[in-house]
Amino acid sequence: MSAKTKLKALLERIEAANAAYYERDAPEMTDAEYDSLRREAEDIAAAHPELREEARVLARVGARPATGFGKVRHRTPMLSLDNVFSPEAFAEFWQGKRRFLGLEAAWDFVAEPKIDGLSISLTYESRKFVRAATRGDGTEGEDVTANMLTLAELPRELPEDAPDFIEIRGEVYMTKADFLALNEANPDKPFANPRNAAAGSLRQLDPSVTAKRKLSLFAYAQGETATPVADTHWGYLETLKRWGFKVNPLSARVGEAEAEAFQAGIGARRAALPYDIDGVVYKVNDLALQARLGFVGRAPRWACAWKFPAEKASTVLEDIEIQVGRTGALTPRARLTPVNVGGVLVQYATLHNEDEIARKDVRIGDTVELQRAGDVIPQILGVLKRGAHTHPFHFPTHCPVCGALAVRDADEAVRRCTGGLSCPAQVVERLIHFCSRGAFDIEGMGEKTVQEFYEAGLLRAAPDIFALPRHEAEIAKREGWGEVSAAKLSAAINARREIGLERFIYALGIRRIGENNAKLLARHYGSYAHWKVAMRAAIEIGSDARLELGSISGVGPAIATDLVAFFAEAHNLDTLAALEREVTVLDAAMATASDSPLAGKVMVFTGTLAMARPEAKARAEALGAKVTESVSKKTDFVVVGEDAGSKAKKAAELGIRMLTEQEFKKMAGL
Ligand code: IVH
Repeated sequence: MSAKTKLKALLERIEAANAAYYERDAPEMTDAEYDSLRREAEDIAAAHPELREEARVLARVGARPATGFGKVRHRTPMLSLDNVFSPEAFAEFWQGKRRFLGLEAAWDFVAEPKIDGLSISLTYESRKFVRAATRGDGTEGEDVTANMLTLAELPRELPEDAPDFIEIRGEVYMTKADFLALNEANPDKPFANPRNAAAGSLRQLDPSVTAKRKLSLFAYAQGETATPVADTHWGYLETLKRWGFKVNPLSARVGEAEAEAFQAGIGARRAALPYDIDGVVYKVNDLALQARLGFVGRAPRWACAWKFPAEKASTVLEDIEIQVGRTGALTPRARLTPVNVGGVLVQYATLHNEDEIARKDVRIGDTVELQRAGDVIPQILGVLKRGAHTHPFHFPTHCPVCGALAVRDADEAVRRCTGGLSCPAQVVERLIHFCSRGAFDIEGMGEKTVQEFYEAGLLRAAPDIFALPRHEAEIAKREGWGEVSAAKLSAAINARREIGLERFIYALGIRRIGENNAKLLARHYGSYAHWKVAMRAAIEIGSDARLELGSISGVGPAIATDLVAFFAEAHNLDTLAALEREVTVLDAAMATASDSPLAGKVMVFTGTLAMARPEAKARAEALGAKVTESVSKKTDFVVVGEDAGSKAKKAAELGIRMLTEQEFKKMAGL
């Protein structure tokens, strides 16, 4: 594989992980996996300067702000931190910075536990709190002022000596105890970890929901300020404390030679701390030196995060359970003798898939090594000791729930149940998905309730959900329900009878149509009616509708096939018709700046641009344009970079307006 292909593949995975983490608060990989992907991509980029353009996404922090909140531009960007994982890497990092400044002396740091929450920028004008914004993509975040005002720990006013204008940065987090209590109260839709719980609680469109969650705040950094506050970072933290901010009490001044011992000390206290931390941040104390060190890419040169290694433990593999997902995928899950891994009791771990089990030759009864990195599902690393009388695990060839044949396509890692809608597991999983947070988001319709109603015969397909309020009296009589709970459920269901197109598409649970692809489709087709007509027409290979579907940037042939397959099934069309009687699908939020000359235009980028392609595309889309891959009669503009080939030629033939990069930037107001 060429370096370019390899890099592209890595960047795709990184972008997908970013979206999962920042936009949906639902990480798909461990921090350690994410860091290793980034490092691999950074290494390739460093060894191949010609791939600089491609690698530019690595410089972007986080993801673009989610829609629904107002946008706030940070006066000073909110950045990320470089990570190190060992004493050697730590020493090398700081030696490099010494070289950068031509200094010889050891560094004096302020060391602060690295809290796992979400960063926040707090703006004070005339010493009054005026605005709170999330990090977003680092330059622009979401306005969460109203939500932030529900935190008792937020100082609303600063004393006389504070500057006229100041941005103070810190971390909003949830303690382990508050996190566990929250999940206990919502067993149907638990958060994966305190970080997600904090992010999910703060980023609520309705601040009264935030008010019910217990969120805490530590302040630790500065943004823009009208007048300097201190000469050292330590002095700055002292000032913040005086102004009424909470500063992490474990923060300390630490010399370079003492860092290793400090790291070990905090590591030893980690499990007992009331909040999750994933490392220690070391910051140069002298602010004049910080200013000279400046930034590179997405991170300051004056700080680094020394992360703790993933936590490991060993335990016995008691069983391998096979779960059946909504698309029929058979997923193996390890049931373990419960074991404490870094303060968390672990009973289940992922085994990924059939090949992974075979490759590691894990057998029921083996003693296995387990790893838990900060969040998400623990992983099995391998076998430590073979159990007595074990035999290799045979992956089932039939669905453990409905007994239908389970098949595996040649190019796939996953075996799937062929039972379709006659498989109860698939039906239930689809219903759970339909009600889940990114889809219809129906409060109270979690796993347990869906399963219960399915077994009771109250639920068979998605439209039945909206019939439940008509069975309220019957539900009230069920064990564990009662009138109040039943009425609450009806209200929660009725509150979701209007839904945005992207959520609706996602809720259908079509294979490969996750939130991202649903968004692409919604943006492209605009309305439910238009989308449905287009999908039905796209069933015919070679039709205009099929070509249009294939031309949407990000929609590949596999996705197109899955979509048309859904529309080719009569029972799916019946489901859609039944849903139409129950819910109203709202048009997708179209162009934000409808007065932009790009709003509603169909655009193609071709050739090499000075601006990175993903950025150009994102800018155009933010202004309401649709960016597609191929030139057709429907294309409004083609932005032509250097060495443009066939697309430019086709545009010329079709008489489509061609723009230089400069012209595009002008239209986009860049
Ligand atoms: S300083 C310019 N200090 O870690 C440096 N960040 O990986 C800005 N974090 O976005 C960050 N504890 O959400 C800093 N004591 C601390 C921190 C901390 C947690 C988070 C923060 C930041 C991320 C960077």
